Amino acid sequence: MSEAREAAWKSLGLHEDTTLEALFAADPDRLGKMSARLELGEGGILFDWSKTHLTDALIADFQELAEASGFDEMRRKLFAGEVVNPTENRAAEHSALRGVGKESSVEEAAALLERMRLLVEAIHEGALGEVKHLIHIGIGGSALGPALAVDALNRDLALVDVHVVSNIDGCALEQAFAACDPATTLIAVASKTFTTIETMTNADSALKWLAENGVDDPSGRVIALTANPEAAVKWGVDETRILPFAESVGGRYSLWSSIGFPVALGIGWEDFSAMLAGAAAVDEHFRDAAMADNLPLRAAFADLYYSRLRGCETRAVFAYDERLALFPDYLQQLEMESNGKSVTAEGKPVKGPTAPITWGGVGTDAQHAVFQLLHQGTRLVPIDFIASIAPGDALDPAHHRILLMNCFAQGAALMAGSANDDLARAYPGNRPSTTILCDDFDAAALGALIAFHEHRTFANAVLMGINPFDQFGVELGKSMAKKIEKGGESFDASTEALLKLAGLN
Ligand code: F6P
Repeated sequence: MSEAREAAWKSLGLHEDTTLEALFAADPDRLGKMSARLELGEGGILFDWSKTHLTDALIADFQELAEASGFDEMRRKLFAGEVVNPTENRAAEHSALRGVGKESSVEEAAALLERMRLLVEAIHEGALGEVKHLIHIGIGGSALGPALAVDALNRDLALVDVHVVSNIDGCALEQAFAACDPATTLIAVASKTFTTIETMTNADSALKWLAENGVDDPSGRVIALTANPEAAVKWGVDETRILPFAESVGGRYSLWSSIGFPVALGIGWEDFSAMLAGAAAVDEHFRDAAMADNLPLRAAFADLYYSRLRGCETRAVFAYDERLALFPDYLQQLEMESNGKSVTAEGKPVKGPTAPITWGGVGTDAQHAVFQLLHQGTRLVPIDFIASIAPGDALDPAHHRILLMNCFAQGAALMAGSANDDLARAYPGNRPSTTILCDDFDAAALGALIAFHEHRTFANAVLMGINPFDQFGVELGKSMAKKIEKGGESFDASTEALLKLAGLN
């Protein structure tokens, strides 16, 4: 770690803890200083950090850290399409798919998306016969983003009924089969590498299902979404139904590429492109805003304050919106696969903890399940609340009113606490939360929310000095599974016994 970075961390460590209530009492303009709006054309999103322990002095020191960490240069490299993933010698060009990035990459991305738009339109117009269902097969970044977006935006009648299947457990695929008519089903095989064992096994079984159920040309019903088109051709997909994307788009950042095909086919091109536009607004903000006004960077300051300076091992996100039920799953991969690292970008052991464990759920359900620990447990958990002012439902307005009142009440209660001589009934308070409030939760807001978290993750990584774009930690388990399948190797006594019990050796 450079001397300047060491000095910045040292100075950050010298700040005295102050209670949230004291921070509000000391500064009548705290809300104004610690909140900001991001405009998205028709609507916007409010970010309110006033109920966190961030202060002007802490932010100033975090800015010093950002400077010492080369934040400006790393951000420039990200948008210039230069190498920001040194272990794999790659750029990370997801923003180019949103029209923000190196000119040639933006042009290439736009051409690939246009190809996808034409195929989606042709399918909607009947080029592949009647299509009522899509089974989208992929895993990790090739499934979590599409699943989130389809679930979030599919509140009206979908154009095509989409089922996202990721798990190798055949129960998942069987459930999709049970809901689909093979004669009117398309299969999307989504895999950046086109080699992932879960995806390829599920894809083989889906083709078999079509063949066994009277479909004459099963491979004619397949669309491949991949950065490895050669492998898709080899597997038997016709080139006209392969939608490629660039190698420089990471798996967990690939929703914006052809991996977003189920969103475009199921929900419609208009919403898919609105999602890209919402994300582009965040890209432009993140690229252009000065450190003091930069919202993803500010979020990273709060994240690091709690994980590094207050020892918080987890951070929780609760969406008070049923449409975001899958958001915590999506965020877990984005944050934990990106920043769950132990070495710096220079390959040295990292000093201090890296990504906390991301978890969460939906409100108000979570209030009746896990909030006891958040209010009275011994662990400090920084929380993000996400909500929309406009309702997603058309029922009695009481539903949305009660939902939002509960969301805001939780933030207030966590901060204020409540004294009681009976300790079992006392609430310590001084527990932090950030509120992210959308005017309306539409496709643009979803795109913006996801892009905000991508850049927040990147900003965290830069400040910690780690590379967020590789994921070697997932490989060892995969290669062990392959060795087990191949046979002839011995493992520890416990694993050997388990294999024997299950009849696998
Ligand atoms: O095993 C982790 C991972 O490599 C993720 O990073 C990725 O999103 C997922 O597997 C799926 O990979 P692919 O899209 O190549 O099938």
